[in-house]
Order: sequence, then structure tokens, then C-alpha cells
Amino acid sequence: MQEYIEKLNIIKETAFREIAEAQDSQTLENLRVKYLGKKSELSNILKSVGNISVEERKTLGMTSNTLKNQITEMLEQSKLRIIEMEKQRRFKSEAVDVTMPGLKINDGRLHPLKKVMKEIETIFLGFGFTIADGPEIETDYYNFEALNIPAHHPARDMHDTFYITNNILLRTHTSPVQVRVMENQRPPVKIIAPGKVYRRDSDVSHIPMFHQVEGLWVDKGITFAHLQYILTEFMQKLFYKSIKLRFRPSFFPFTEPSTEVDISCVICGGSGCRVCKNTGWLEVLGAGMVDPEVFKFVDYDPEIYTGFAFGLGVDRIAMLKYKINDLRLFPENDIRFLRQF
Ligand code: PHE
Repeated sequence: MQEYIEKLNIIKETAFREIAEAQDSQTLENLRVKYLGKKSELSNILKSVGNISVEERKTLGMTSNTLKNQITEMLEQSKLRIIEMEKQRRFKSEAVDVTMPGLKINDGRLHPLKKVMKEIETIFLGFGFTIADGPEIETDYYNFEALNIPAHHPARDMHDTFYITNNILLRTHTSPVQVRVMENQRPPVKIIAPGKVYRRDSDVSHIPMFHQVEGLWVDKGITFAHLQYILTEFMQKLFYKSIKLRFRPSFFPFTEPSTEVDISCVICGGSGCRVCKNTGWLEVLGAGMVDPEVFKFVDYDPEIYTGFAFGLGVDRIAMLKYKINDLRLFPENDIRFLRQF
């Protein structure tokens, strides 16, 4: 009998210790099975007992029952302790430091040239123009011939053309789009044609690929006054209201009369600075009334229709608008430069 009491004491001691030391619910569950399960020593102690008196059996039964209850109680408490512990552990591992700076997402943005281009488009759309497009690889016919620049015409020298074959070239201006549009459409024609153009020169103020926006408005009764009005309104919208325009007589084979247009310097306001070379003026575009010779190529009757055309240098405009002093920054695509817009 004493032997069994001893045994119960040992079970009690180890059970209490192991339960107290358990660190997770799985271990605790294993301990429950070990001490209270059907095959546990404690559950079977009475069966294993041999020759003892009824009185002793009763005492042993009560003692082992008491121990069972104690262990159950102990497991219950440990369970609460472990649930709390596991919760804390989970909080710790899942904790988010809300004060940590977030991942920075570098959003894309428009190239400054594209931005100005879009701004220009928006203004002209507001004037009722639509947007036309043409190929960058052009034929001699559209780039020169139909614009009243026949072979051997001295005006061709000005263009520093990239030739692909004798007849095929990279367009040197957006003016060929004028011809393509008029070929396909009867007046009224009221379009702008933004795009890339190519010339073989390269220095601080010239790069071999640059951007123009062509404009063309042909209808009955279009005059030079319309040209002046549209361009003045346009510049005032693009820069500021008090900007001034100066129309200088010039020459283009496809317009007559022709003009080069200056705006009052947007850097110094006209008082003279480095950018305007102390003249107070900046040249920004070529324009004129469409030459009747061009109308002949597209079968428009110059006795009925008149029109104006202009070609705007977008890169120059973007430089002025964003105060950029080197044209070469545009095609370099240095991200530190591009991020500033
Ligand atoms: N195409 C001319 C150029 O690139 C500009 C221009 C366009 C002039 C339309 C008159 C009319 O220099």
C-alpha cells in the first residue's frame, strides 16, 4: 500500500513540474494524455494494485481521484497561462511598426516635352483645331516637292536632310502633314500636327531630332489677321497674358507672305538678358499664308480658299517654359533631370 502512495506522490511531483514548465498548448495536451488519459499510470493504478484491503483500496481510490482533480485543475490553469503566452508571442511576431516609413513608389510622369506638347494641343483643341498625324519617314514629294521646294531649290540646303534613299528621307519639318491632310480632305481644314522632325545638326542649340507643332487653317476668307489672332491668343495662354508678339517678314517657299514670329522674352520680360541675347525677343516659329502653288498640288482652288500655316519649335518653347538652358537634357533622359517636372 505504502508503495502505491509513494508512486502517486512521484506522479504528482513530476506532473506538477512538467505542467508548470509547459510552454505551448501541444506540450500541454501531451501532458494531459500522459497523466489523465486512459492508458495513464494514474488511471490504471487501481487495476495494478494487488492484494490490499477494501479500506485501503478506498483510500487509494480517493487519493488518486484527488490527484486527478488536482492535475485537471493544474492543466486548466496552465492552459490559460499558455493561451495568454501564445497570444503575446503572436502579437510580437505579427506586430507592425506603424511609424516605419512606407515603401516609396516612384510613379511615372510625363517627359517635359510631352507635357508642353499636351498643353499646346489642349489650347488648339480649344480653338476648334483637330489633331493630325503623319509619318516620320517621308518621301521627297511630301517633304519638299509638294511644298513648292523643287529639286535643286536653295531652300533644301537649309534643311540638312537625313536621306535614306534618293527619294526617302526623315522629315525635316512637320509641314508634309499639311499636304497629306489637304490631299484627303476638302476645306475647311483646321488642324495641328505635333511630332518629331530630323535634321543633321548638333550643337548647344541644335539636336538632330527635335519637335514641331504644325498648324494649318484653310477656309474661305482666312486672312493674315486670323493668323495673328490665333498665334497671339495661343502664346498668351501658353505663357502669360502680357506677352507680346512680333511678326518679322521672312521667306518660306510654301507660304506667301511669310513671317517669323518672335515673342517678348519670357525670362526678362523684354528688358534684355542672356537668353534673348539682349534683344528682348525670342524667335519661336515660322508661319505665313499658304502659297497658292501648294494648293495646286492638292487641288484646292486658291481663288476660293485661303489659309495660314505655322510651324512651332516645341523644344525651344519647353526650354523657355521650364527655364532649361541646355537642349541636350531632353534626349539624355537623366532621371534626376526628368524627376523635376
Ligand atoms: N516648316 C517650317 C520650318 O520647319 C516652318 C513653317 C511651317 C513655316 C509652316 C511656315 C509655315 O522651318
